[in-house]
Amino acid sequence: EIVPVIMAGGSGTRLWPLSRSLFPKQFLSLATNQSMLQETLKRTFGLETAKAVLLCNENHRFLVAEQLRTLNYKNARILLEPAGRNTAPALALAAFDIINTRQDGVMMVMAADHVIEDTAAFEYAVNQAMPLALNNNLLTFGIVANAPETGYGYIKRGAQLADSAYQVEQFVEKPSLNTAMQYLDSGDYYWNSGMFLFKASVYLQELKKWAPKIYQACETAYQQKTEDLDFVRAGKDAFLASPDDSIDYAIMEQTDKAIVIPLDAGWSDIGSWSALWEIDGKDTNNNAINGDVMLHDTKNSLVHSTSRLVTTVGLENIVIVETKDAVLVAEKSKVQDVKHIVDRLKKNS
Ligand code: GDD
Ligand code: MG
Repeated sequence: EIVPVIMAGGSGTRLWPLSRSLFPKQFLSLATNQSMLQETLKRTFGLETAKAVLLCNENHRFLVAEQLRTLNYKNARILLEPAGRNTAPALALAAFDIINTRQDGVMMVMAADHVIEDTAAFEYAVNQAMPLALNNNLLTFGIVANAPETGYGYIKRGAQLADSAYQVEQFVEKPSLNTAMQYLDSGDYYWNSGMFLFKASVYLQELKKWAPKIYQACETAYQQKTEDLDFVRAGKDAFLASPDDSIDYAIMEQTDKAIVIPLDAGWSDIGSWSALWEIDGKDTNNNAINGDVMLHDTKNSLVHSTSRLVTTVGLENIVIVETKDAVLVAEKSKVQDVKHIVDRLKKNS
């Protein structure tokens, strides 16, 4: 059986001002009329799954519970982190919980901020990965790279193991632009989709080996947990003492047990406004529009209004996002830098 493990503790700052610290992007309805988290859960409905594990920040517990409730999804444990320590510690809590409540299980690790258009292709890849995961490997799902993105992990394909499974020869998280361009040219690399399949016990073994401090802190934090209803709270001080690191840096770059399964399922990471523009439906001038907006002589832009009429005249490649208390106007090619605004706002608050 597969245990869906959904990582929903990120802050989504590059989608500011819609994504806020009290309401980050995974809880927003961006690509469809359900939230990214709900879409992620629904993606697992065609697989044979056991009780899911949701990993999120303490502050978002009611948001998560409410979104599960509207889906009528009752089959989840919600593990709460007192503060984010990135994905390696969060997944350690999930693994300890799975070992503790059901001996072991295969974790289907998913980010709560991805769009996957072809659910059948996704299910197919997961089912192919399953026997290899049961065989104590760490499975990743590779997306054919088509641009020198620096926000992704890169996976170099090694020897072929099965129909469409390859040994991971090298895993490089977020390379520089130059390196990413070389990888793209070589044609031997996939992007890491950020989804994984492995046994909880195997994850913990690898964590103990490559990141023993995270292992120890999370083991203690899990032992000191408190539970009420579906909420499981990790012991605060122990968890906060864990190093802050992602599974990609802490484990995937180090391990020799990684196997990649190519995934061609219309995957995208809605990391920024331009990524959202890419996947959104467009008007005849290639604008992605949302809410009360009126455009004239405007092309290739994204205009999103939540509380007022927004009008534009004579714009091209611009992103405008209006909310009650903050408005963003940015050139579409520069939207990655919204994070600098968010950093400054955080400093001032
Ligand atoms: N529970 C929890 N706690 N979840 C977290 C935390 C945390 O501290 N930090 C991040 N997450 C969640 C995010 O909400 C998201 O769903 C997922 O974990 C991945 O985190 P991101 O911060 O979005 O990672 P990334 O996009 O920079 O990089 C990862 O994904 C890429 C593909 O989208 C890496 O795995 C890359 O290698 C990969 O290419
Ligand atoms: Mg991401």
